[in-house]
Formats: sequence, C-alpha cells, structure tokens
Amino acid sequence: MLAGERENPVVGLATGDTPGPMYAALSRVGLPALRAFAIDEYGGPRVHPCNNRAYFERHWRLIPGAGDVEQFDPEVADRRAECERFAGALAAAGGLDLVVLGIGMNGHLGFNEPGSKPHEGARLVSLHETTRQAAARCWGDHAPRTGLTLGLSEILSARAVLLLATGERKAAVVARALEGEVGPEVPASHLQEQPRLTVVVDEAAAALLRAAR
Ligand code: F6R
Repeated sequence: MLAGERENPVVGLATGDTPGPMYAALSRVGLPALRAFAIDEYGGPRVHPCNNRAYFERHWRLIPGAGDVEQFDPEVADRRAECERFAGALAAAGGLDLVVLGIGMNGHLGFNEPGSKPHEGARLVSLHETTRQAAARCWGDHAPRTGLTLGLSEILSARAVLLLATGERKAAVVARALEGEVGPEVPASHLQEQPRLTVVVDEAAAALLRAAR
C-alpha cells in the first residue's frame, strides 16, 4: 500500500465509518514505520468521544507499529493559526505520500465542503448542514459548526490517493464525483485530476458508475 520511496512515508488519514474496517484489518497485520497526519478535526473540544482525536485512539492505536497521529488542536485560541501550524508541520515532513479518504454525502473530502477550491490549503471552515447532520449521529444537538481541515491543495498534491466508499447511500455522490463535471460544487470531483488515484468501492457504492456497468 505504501508505495512512497521515503523511509518513513507520510500518510494522511480520514476518520468515519468508511475507513473503520481498513483500520481493523491493519490491526491484524501491523504497519511499517510511517508518519500519520489526521486530515481534519471538528472545531469542538479537544477531549470529546465524538471528535477525530478520539476516533484515532479507538481505531489507530490498536494497530501494531502505529505511532502518534499528528492532530489539529481545536481548542487553541486562534484556530486559523492552528491550521497554518498544521500545514507547516506537514510541509516540513515533505507533504503527503499517501492520503486515505472517505467521501461525504455532499462530495466533501476532509472538511472541504462544496465551494472549496483546489488551490485552497489547510484552514478553518464552516461545516455544511449535511455534514452537521452526519455528525449529529454521535454529537447529538452539539455537532460543531466549524472544522479544521487540510485543504484540497494538500490533499490533491499527495503522491498517491486512496478513496474508499461503501454502501448504497454513497452511490450517487461517487458517480457524480468520479464521472461528473469537475468543479467546486463537488470537491471530490477534483480527484479526476489526480494522476495517482486508487478507488476502492463496494458493489453498492459503485452501482451508478458507468465504468462499473
Ligand atoms: C473524516 C473525513 C470526512 C469523511 C466523510 C465520510 O475525517 O475526512 O470527509 O471521510 O464525511 O464519512 P463516513 O465514512 O463516515 O461516511
């Protein structure tokens, strides 16, 4: 999986339902040495069972060989400066060799919501209503209104991209992203411009792809 030529490849990691089984599978085989960066975090408390930091504690820590995941700190006074710090740390590490992505129902990647442009870097964003509704499954009425995210700029310049999607509910957005018009309306559509993209979808999520028929 880690095709990078560097000794300690740098990997960007999504959270969520989709990559859960991949992290579970990795916990059975372990990992070589790598540096991991979370691709996003909720603009909520630093310690909360529903944030991405807690997700990595549950899903990543169990993997033999997995080290710390570099995280956005959502509780600093200046979240914009925190995004700059995080982007700086990633750049100092040499950028992403591989990024593992899920896709939001609205076509977001990380928290790059519709309207995000490919040149935009890590930043503080407002979460769209669909994203907050998805978050409400865990956060209830307290779903954060903001997120800290790597931008499409850092994500799309990864040396390899792995997009994961599962389930019927993702079929329409997967087809729209991979076979529809490229543009900010569906941020994931910019993956069509990524030369090193691997897509892993189950049959249900692939159902509306022309390429799969
Ligand atoms: C989370 C992230 C998001 C999710 C997307 C899909 O770190 O980057 O873009 O990948 O919202 O979430 P699930 O997999 O829960 O459907």
